[in-house]
Amino acid sequence: MNLKIAILPGDGIGPEVMAEAIKVLEAVGRRFGHAIDLEYGRIGGNAIDDFGTPLPDETVDLCRRSDAILFGAVGGPKWDSPDAAARPEDGILAIRKSLGLFANLRPVKVYPSLINSSPVKPSLLEGVDMIVLRELTGGLYFARPKRRWTTKSGRRGVDTLRYTEHEIERIVRVAFELARGRSKRLTSVDKANVLESSRLWRQVADEVHEDYPDVELEHILVDAAAMSLIRSPASYDVIVAENMFGDILTDEASVLSGSMGMQPSASLAGLPGVTENAESAISLYEPIHGSAPDIAGQGIANPIGMALSAAMMLRHSFGLEDEAQAVEASVEGVLAEGYRTPDIASDGGDVVGTERMGTVIAGRV
Ligand code: IPM
Ligand code: MG
Repeated sequence: MNLKIAILPGDGIGPEVMAEAIKVLEAVGRRFGHAIDLEYGRIGGNAIDDFGTPLPDETVDLCRRSDAILFGAVGGPKWDSPDAAARPEDGILAIRKSLGLFANLRPVKVYPSLINSSPVKPSLLEGVDMIVLRELTGGLYFARPKRRWTTKSGRRGVDTLRYTEHEIERIVRVAFELARGRSKRLTSVDKANVLESSRLWRQVADEVHEDYPDVELEHILVDAAAMSLIRSPASYDVIVAENMFGDILTDEASVLSGSMGMQPSASLAGLPGVTENAESAISLYEPIHGSAPDIAGQGIANPIGMALSAAMMLRHSFGLEDEAQAVEASVEGVLAEGYRTPDIASDGGDVVGTERMGTVIAGRV
């Protein structure tokens, strides 16, 4: 098979972890006989520096003519001024929006060999294996008005939390489908005791539930969810949440796995056969971590979240389940052998840098 992939490394540790994910993909290509056809594009702060925009048109064109997109990370202190005309983060937000990637799958798994790397008690971590489905193209991130201005009585800023029933329906439907394929339990997160958008969310979720009587649906308020995710993480299977709640809860949930550097994600335009036009969509795969400017350039970033994102790409965009599992098994294997990047080395082990970690994972594929 020919795998035509747009590679968007971005800023900070993005290019460092991307190089390792590519090593792993090339190993997959050699073992399973696939041609890995990569084309690089610019995005984020480095694109602002060279093109004046975080998402140059040629990057969008590149994405549209590829079969899938691998994305590293964007941002950094250099572009962080509140008055900056262009922001690196707008690059990734614009791609998500323009490709209609409303469904962001964030699996959270605890590897037995990393159980002591998390600050959460091992007894609570046993059996943790969940998927957080984050709505990715609506809510506070995108709805208008969204602006800052000066009035006679001082400065004001506004972001809008708005959801249409269509946006809620399609993400909740994806969540029910995922739950149906797993343990048939779905938890929907909202703040329905305060927010109108959440009351609509809950109503629509209950309506969609009628199509999935075999799945158990539980509603939970986001503040209670934040607590319960740490207190009883193993009790969750599929969680669905609006954009910002999902952003916050997945950073929290990553602590269960030992490090944010471990977490992959897939951004999809829904599911084939479930969501309209999902068959022809181009999906994007990215680790949930950011550009980590504090450790960029030191060669110590954890490439596992990026490599596992590549595995999700093999599965969801190319239907290559065996290949995806080969990558996942390699990651599990090198962790069991004791290889650790510094972020997951609190229990000791063989501490290695980004490149070495990529090489050992690729070597096991
Ligand atoms: C994430 C990140 C992004 C988000 C930022 C970089 C815009 O935090 O993917 O979780 O908030 O979506
Ligand atoms: Mg985030």
